[in-house]
Amino acid sequence: MSADDQKKNAAHHAVSLIKSGMTVGLGTGSTAAFALHEIRRRMDDEGLTILGVCTSSGTEALANKLQIPIKPLSTETRIELYIDGADQVDHDGHIIKGGGGALLREKLVAVNSAHRVIMTDASKKVDRLGGKVFLPIEIVRFGHDTTIERIARRTKCVPHLRQREGKAFVTDEGHHIVDCEYAGGIDDAPALSRILDAIPGVVETGLFIGLCDLLVVGSDTSVQLTEFPRKEVIL
Ligand code: A5P
Repeated sequence: MSADDQKKNAAHHAVSLIKSGMTVGLGTGSTAAFALHEIRRRMDDEGLTILGVCTSSGTEALANKLQIPIKPLSTETRIELYIDGADQVDHDGHIIKGGGGALLREKLVAVNSAHRVIMTDASKKVDRLGGKVFLPIEIVRFGHDTTIERIARRTKCVPHLRQREGKAFVTDEGHHIVDCEYAGGIDDAPALSRILDAIPGVVETGLFIGLCDLLVVGSDTSVQLTEFPRKEVIL
């Protein structure tokens, strides 16, 4: 079975947790796209009604195409459930996200959601974050090379400014992304997150610490579920 089939199994399980009338945070990426298609199927077959809060312009375009009603994130929006993919997940439920460049809006939706469900294929589970998967960090464009130099010096990584079509990639919020290579893996993800958050010019990191309540890993036949005790993350 392919990784895509595993992602689809995970996405279908996550969507089965949605009840009619819920407001749902809609993630970004291929796994989230499977989830949106399954939401549409449930709307057609079961009369499911939801309101979605999108984590990227790409997800917004797909939701509009599938005619899934959406609304913006605001204090008036109570998101019951957030469903999204991930690039890596460790045994503590710490995550690397941002492969698709949507980490900032994803984290904003995650912290404003009552319950966070992360859906992955089996390859995303690791003992140690980092290594082959680079950590995306969203930085402001002004003086971005100085921020990159500081990130590399403070956290001992090899930085790669993300490119698209020969130019520096620009996020939905108008920033750049630096993909940081921690070759031997990340020793202490919460500690690294705190160091990075304190560097001027860093808008947000792809380290999601304490933001996964339920991990759904698609296997070839079904799904494996892991619950993580909710910690009060002060953000
Ligand atoms: C988007 O910025 C990312 O955080 C994605 O959620 C992550 O890269 C997972 O993507 P796939 O679902 O495509 O593997």
